[in-house]
Amino acid sequence: MSRFDAAIFDLDGVLVDSAKAHFVAWRRLADELGIAFTEHDNEALKGLDRMASLRTILALGGQAFSDDAMATLAARKNGYYLEAVARMSPADQLPGAAALVGSAKAAGLRCAVASASRNAPALLERVGLASEFDFIADAGAVAHGKPAPDIFLACSDALGVVPAACLAFEDAAAGIEAIVAAGMFAVGIGDPAILKGARITFPDTSAVDLPALLRA
Ligand code: BG6
Ligand code: MG
Repeated sequence: MSRFDAAIFDLDGVLVDSAKAHFVAWRRLADELGIAFTEHDNEALKGLDRMASLRTILALGGQAFSDDAMATLAARKNGYYLEAVARMSPADQLPGAAALVGSAKAAGLRCAVASASRNAPALLERVGLASEFDFIADAGAVAHGKPAPDIFLACSDALGVVPAACLAFEDAAAGIEAIVAAGMFAVGIGDPAILKGARITFPDTSAVDLPALLRA
């Protein structure tokens, strides 16, 4: 018997190869604003919501805008990102994503998505994964974004599972922090040096050893 009853997944960079598309869209906006923005800078944005990401980029460039102008800039970036989403298909699932979710379901776990992205439902449809989940959290409905635990707790609440019985998967430092704050078992996908705080880290989604996690 496993102590876990639910698996909660981040989306961008865990299930779908969309982290790069977010970066490319932000870099296009940053270029237009004359702000140098590198892949290294982008690491700190992963998992943050849209406005928090924009504030971080503007701070890098020492620029400030009114709330209205910031909303316009964020909408422009989202337009760039949606151009990339429109070109996506099931081929953009990360290797092992569907198999991991399928194995979690076969092991009797309830499954949910805890993404900071307001585009999560549309992206999940686009890559053919939407129907796999018992619950997809609404990033627009939580009071505090990652690294706060809210979106993970919204998932455990909706699934009717206590946080201690949830395994949660993340590729971002802010996401791991959110999982730990939620009192869940944090599984990192990526570099353990970045994902400090994860109980265990796998280099990518296809490398996740679910049977071992279920024995943890
Ligand atoms: C997170 C990504 O999943 O969603 C971030 O890691 C992104 O890079 C954030 O900025 C918000 O996404 P969206 O689609 O609501 O702008
Ligand atoms: Mg992510």
